[in-house]
Amino acid sequence: MTFDRTVKIAPSILSADFADFGREIQAVEAEGADWIHVDVMDGHFVPNITFGPATCKAIRPHIKTVMDVHLMIAPVDPYIEAFAEAGADIISAHVEAGPHIHRTLQAIRGAGVKAGLAINPGTPASVLEPLLDMVDLVCVMTVNPGFGGQKFIHSCVEKVRTIRAMIGDRPVHIEIDGGVDPVTAPLVVAAGADVLVAGSAVFKGGSVRNPAPYGANIRAIRAAAS
Ligand code: DX5
Ligand code: ZN
Repeated sequence: MTFDRTVKIAPSILSADFADFGREIQAVEAEGADWIHVDVMDGHFVPNITFGPATCKAIRPHIKTVMDVHLMIAPVDPYIEAFAEAGADIISAHVEAGPHIHRTLQAIRGAGVKAGLAINPGTPASVLEPLLDMVDLVCVMTVNPGFGGQKFIHSCVEKVRTIRAMIGDRPVHIEIDGGVDPVTAPLVVAAGADVLVAGSAVFKGGSVRNPAPYGANIRAIRAAAS
Protein backbone atom coordinates (compact mmCIF):
# COMPACT_ATOMS: atom_id res chain seq x y z
CA MET A 1 0.00 0.00 0.00
CA THR A 2 1.56 3.28 -1.09
CA PHE A 3 0.20 6.50 0.37
CA ASP A 4 -1.65 9.08 -1.70
CA ARG A 5 -4.55 11.44 -1.29
CA THR A 6 -6.50 10.58 -4.42
CA VAL A 7 -10.14 9.78 -3.67
CA LYS A 8 -10.70 6.10 -2.90
CA ILE A 9 -14.13 4.46 -2.78
CA ALA A 10 -14.46 1.72 -0.15
CA PRO A 11 -17.74 -0.20 -0.44
CA SER A 12 -18.94 -1.54 2.91
CA ILE A 13 -19.95 -5.20 2.73
CA LEU A 14 -22.49 -4.43 5.47
CA SER A 15 -24.81 -3.68 2.54
CA ALA A 16 -23.83 -6.81 0.56
CA ASP A 17 -25.52 -10.22 0.54
CA PHE A 18 -24.20 -11.86 3.73
CA ALA A 19 -24.62 -15.32 2.17
CA ASP A 20 -22.38 -14.41 -0.77
CA PHE A 21 -19.52 -12.19 0.43
CA GLY A 22 -16.91 -13.73 -1.89
CA ARG A 23 -18.79 -12.99 -5.08
CA GLU A 24 -20.05 -9.62 -3.81
CA ILE A 25 -16.45 -8.54 -3.19
CA GLN A 26 -15.33 -9.79 -6.61
CA ALA A 27 -18.23 -7.89 -8.19
CA VAL A 28 -17.58 -4.51 -6.53
CA GLU A 29 -13.84 -4.77 -7.20
CA ALA A 30 -14.51 -5.55 -10.87
CA GLU A 31 -16.82 -2.53 -10.91
CA GLY A 32 -14.16 -0.15 -9.60
CA ALA A 33 -13.93 -0.37 -5.79
CA ASP A 34 -10.54 0.82 -4.47
CA TRP A 35 -10.75 -0.75 -0.99
CA ILE A 36 -13.16 -3.17 0.72
CA HIS A 37 -14.55 -1.90 4.04
CA VAL A 38 -15.40 -4.63 6.56
CA ASP A 39 -17.67 -3.65 9.47
CA VAL A 40 -17.22 -5.78 12.58
CA MET A 41 -19.92 -5.22 15.25
CA ASP A 42 -20.30 -6.89 18.63
CA GLY A 43 -23.80 -6.02 19.91
CA HIS A 44 -22.13 -4.31 22.88
CA PHE A 45 -20.13 -1.30 21.65
CA VAL A 46 -22.82 -0.87 18.98
CA PRO A 47 -26.39 -2.20 18.99
CA ASN A 48 -25.86 -4.65 16.11
CA ILE A 49 -23.86 -7.84 15.49
CA THR A 50 -22.17 -8.74 12.20
CA PHE A 51 -19.24 -11.20 12.18
CA GLY A 52 -15.74 -11.77 13.51
CA PRO A 53 -12.23 -12.84 12.54
CA ALA A 54 -13.26 -16.19 11.03
CA THR A 55 -15.42 -14.46 8.43
CA CYS A 56 -12.66 -11.93 7.75
CA LYS A 57 -10.23 -14.79 7.14
CA ALA A 58 -12.71 -16.52 4.82
CA ILE A 59 -13.29 -13.44 2.67
CA ARG A 60 -9.62 -12.37 2.55
CA PRO A 61 -8.70 -14.47 -0.53
CA HIS A 62 -11.48 -12.73 -2.47
CA ILE A 63 -10.06 -9.24 -1.81
CA LYS A 64 -7.47 -8.12 -4.35
CA THR A 65 -7.40 -4.49 -3.19
CA VAL A 66 -7.19 -3.40 0.46
CA MET A 67 -8.95 -5.08 3.38
CA ASP A 68 -10.04 -2.22 5.62
CA VAL A 69 -11.41 -3.64 8.89
CA HIS A 70 -13.51 -1.30 11.05
CA LEU A 71 -13.85 -2.70 14.55
CA MET A 72 -16.97 -1.55 16.38
CA ILE A 73 -16.21 -3.77 19.36
CA ALA A 74 -15.17 -3.36 22.99
CA PRO A 75 -12.76 -4.48 24.23
CA VAL A 76 -10.48 -4.37 21.17
CA ASP A 77 -7.08 -5.54 22.38
CA PRO A 78 -7.85 -9.27 22.92
CA TYR A 79 -8.89 -9.59 19.25
CA ILE A 80 -6.20 -7.62 17.40
CA GLU A 81 -4.00 -10.64 16.78
CA ALA A 82 -6.93 -12.60 15.32
CA PHE A 83 -7.88 -9.84 12.89
CA ALA A 84 -4.24 -9.36 11.90
CA GLU A 85 -3.94 -13.09 11.26
CA ALA A 86 -7.15 -12.96 9.23
CA GLY A 87 -5.26 -10.74 6.79
CA ALA A 88 -6.46 -7.20 7.52
CA ASP A 89 -4.38 -4.47 5.83
CA ILE A 90 -5.84 -1.79 8.10
CA ILE A 91 -7.51 -2.24 11.48
CA SER A 92 -9.45 0.72 12.86
CA ALA A 93 -10.44 0.90 16.51
CA HIS A 94 -12.76 3.44 18.11
CA VAL A 95 -11.33 6.00 20.50
CA GLU A 96 -14.55 5.51 22.51
CA ALA A 97 -14.07 1.73 22.82
CA GLY A 98 -11.90 1.78 25.92
CA PRO A 99 -9.62 3.70 28.24
CA HIS A 100 -6.34 2.73 26.54
CA ILE A 101 -6.51 3.73 22.88
CA HIS A 102 -2.77 4.51 22.85
CA ARG A 103 -1.99 0.92 23.81
CA THR A 104 -4.49 -0.37 21.26
CA LEU A 105 -2.83 1.57 18.43
CA GLN A 106 0.60 0.31 19.51
CA ALA A 107 -0.75 -3.23 19.44
CA ILE A 108 -2.23 -2.87 15.96
CA ARG A 109 1.04 -1.59 14.50
CA GLY A 110 2.90 -4.16 16.57
CA ALA A 111 0.89 -6.85 14.78
CA GLY A 112 2.24 -5.52 11.47
CA VAL A 113 -1.02 -3.90 10.39
CA LYS A 114 -1.78 -0.28 9.52
CA ALA A 115 -3.58 1.46 12.37
CA GLY A 116 -6.80 3.41 12.03
CA LEU A 117 -8.55 5.49 14.65
CA ALA A 118 -12.32 5.91 14.37
CA ILE A 119 -14.25 8.69 16.09
CA ASN A 120 -17.98 8.97 16.63
CA PRO A 121 -20.04 12.04 15.70
CA GLY A 122 -20.19 13.07 19.37
CA THR A 123 -16.41 13.01 19.85
CA PRO A 124 -14.33 16.15 19.19
CA ALA A 125 -11.29 16.24 16.88
CA SER A 126 -9.06 17.24 19.82
CA VAL A 127 -8.87 13.61 21.08
CA LEU A 128 -6.66 12.85 18.06
CA GLU A 129 -4.00 15.39 18.95
CA PRO A 130 -1.70 13.08 21.01
CA LEU A 131 -2.24 10.13 18.64
CA LEU A 132 -1.65 11.43 15.12
CA ASP A 133 1.91 10.08 14.86
CA MET A 134 0.62 6.60 15.73
CA VAL A 135 -2.02 6.25 13.02
CA ASP A 136 -2.22 5.64 9.29
CA LEU A 137 -5.90 6.56 9.01
CA VAL A 138 -8.53 8.56 10.85
CA CYS A 139 -12.09 7.31 10.30
CA VAL A 140 -14.56 10.12 10.87
CA MET A 141 -18.00 8.65 11.52
CA THR A 142 -20.70 10.73 9.89
CA VAL A 143 -23.47 8.56 11.38
CA ASN A 144 -23.66 6.88 14.77
CA PRO A 145 -22.11 3.45 14.14
CA GLY A 146 -24.23 0.31 14.07
CA PHE A 147 -26.28 0.32 10.91
CA GLY A 148 -26.06 1.07 7.20
CA GLY A 149 -28.44 3.41 5.44
CA GLN A 150 -28.53 6.18 8.04
CA LYS A 151 -28.68 9.89 7.33
CA PHE A 152 -25.39 11.80 7.00
CA ILE A 153 -24.75 14.16 9.96
CA HIS A 154 -23.73 17.46 8.39
CA SER A 155 -22.16 18.93 11.53
CA CYS A 156 -19.28 16.44 11.07
CA VAL A 157 -17.99 18.19 7.93
CA GLU A 158 -16.37 20.99 9.90
CA LYS A 159 -14.61 18.38 12.04
CA VAL A 160 -13.10 16.87 8.88
CA ARG A 161 -11.65 20.27 8.01
CA THR A 162 -10.17 20.58 11.51
CA ILE A 163 -8.64 17.09 11.34
CA ARG A 164 -7.17 17.73 7.90
CA ALA A 165 -5.38 20.81 9.28
CA MET A 166 -4.16 18.85 12.34
CA ILE A 167 -2.71 16.10 10.12
CA GLY A 168 -0.59 18.52 8.10
CA ASP A 169 2.10 16.66 6.14
CA ARG A 170 1.68 13.34 7.91
CA PRO A 171 0.82 10.39 5.64
CA VAL A 172 -2.56 9.84 7.33
CA HIS A 173 -5.73 9.09 5.39
CA ILE A 174 -9.04 10.68 6.34
CA GLU A 175 -11.84 8.20 5.83
CA ILE A 176 -15.52 9.11 5.99
CA ASP A 177 -18.00 6.48 7.12
CA GLY A 178 -21.77 6.86 7.04
CA GLY A 179 -24.28 8.35 4.65
CA VAL A 180 -21.78 8.93 1.84
CA ASP A 181 -23.48 9.36 -1.55
CA PRO A 182 -23.04 11.63 -4.59
CA VAL A 183 -24.56 14.54 -2.62
CA THR A 184 -22.44 14.27 0.55
CA ALA A 185 -19.16 13.01 -1.01
CA PRO A 186 -18.14 16.39 -2.46
CA LEU A 187 -18.65 18.08 0.93
CA VAL A 188 -16.24 15.80 2.77
CA VAL A 189 -13.66 15.64 -0.03
CA ALA A 190 -13.60 19.46 -0.13
CA ALA A 191 -12.99 19.35 3.64
CA GLY A 192 -9.97 17.03 3.18
CA ALA A 193 -11.21 13.44 3.12
CA ASP A 194 -9.67 10.91 0.71
CA VAL A 195 -11.32 7.55 1.56
CA LEU A 196 -15.08 7.33 1.14
CA VAL A 197 -16.85 4.35 2.69
CA ALA A 198 -20.24 3.73 1.12
CA GLY A 199 -22.61 0.85 1.80
CA SER A 200 -26.13 1.52 0.62
CA ALA A 201 -25.05 4.05 -2.02
CA VAL A 202 -22.84 1.42 -3.74
CA PHE A 203 -24.92 -1.75 -3.39
CA LYS A 204 -28.35 -0.28 -4.16
CA GLY A 205 -29.99 -1.60 -7.32
CA GLY A 206 -27.37 -4.28 -8.02
CA SER A 207 -26.53 -7.90 -7.18
CA VAL A 208 -23.86 -10.47 -8.04
CA ARG A 209 -25.98 -11.44 -11.04
CA ASN A 210 -26.51 -7.81 -12.04
CA PRO A 211 -23.36 -5.96 -10.93
CA ALA A 212 -23.51 -3.06 -13.43
CA PRO A 213 -25.37 -0.79 -10.94
CA TYR A 214 -22.43 -1.21 -8.53
CA GLY A 215 -20.16 0.32 -11.17
CA ALA A 216 -22.59 3.12 -11.97
CA ASN A 217 -22.99 3.89 -8.27
CA ILE A 218 -19.21 3.94 -7.66
CA ARG A 219 -18.63 6.17 -10.69
CA ALA A 220 -21.39 8.55 -9.57
CA ILE A 221 -19.76 9.01 -6.15
CA ARG A 222 -16.29 9.42 -7.70
CA ALA A 223 -17.52 11.91 -10.29
CA ALA A 224 -19.37 13.97 -7.69
CA ALA A 225 -16.31 14.00 -5.44
CA SER A 226 -13.84 15.21 -8.07
C1 DX5 B 1 -21.89 2.03 10.13
C2 DX5 B 1 -20.78 1.36 9.36
C3 DX5 B 1 -20.68 1.86 7.97
C4 DX5 B 1 -21.91 1.59 7.15
C5 DX5 B 1 -22.07 2.67 6.15
O1 DX5 B 1 -21.81 1.68 11.46
O2 DX5 B 1 -19.52 1.59 9.98
O3 DX5 B 1 -19.52 1.38 7.31
O4 DX5 B 1 -21.88 0.36 6.49
O5 DX5 B 1 -23.26 2.45 5.49
P1 DX5 B 1 -23.95 3.57 4.61
O6 DX5 B 1 -22.99 3.95 3.53
O7 DX5 B 1 -25.17 2.88 4.10
O8 DX5 B 1 -24.26 4.73 5.52
ZN1 ZN C 1 -17.59 1.19 8.86
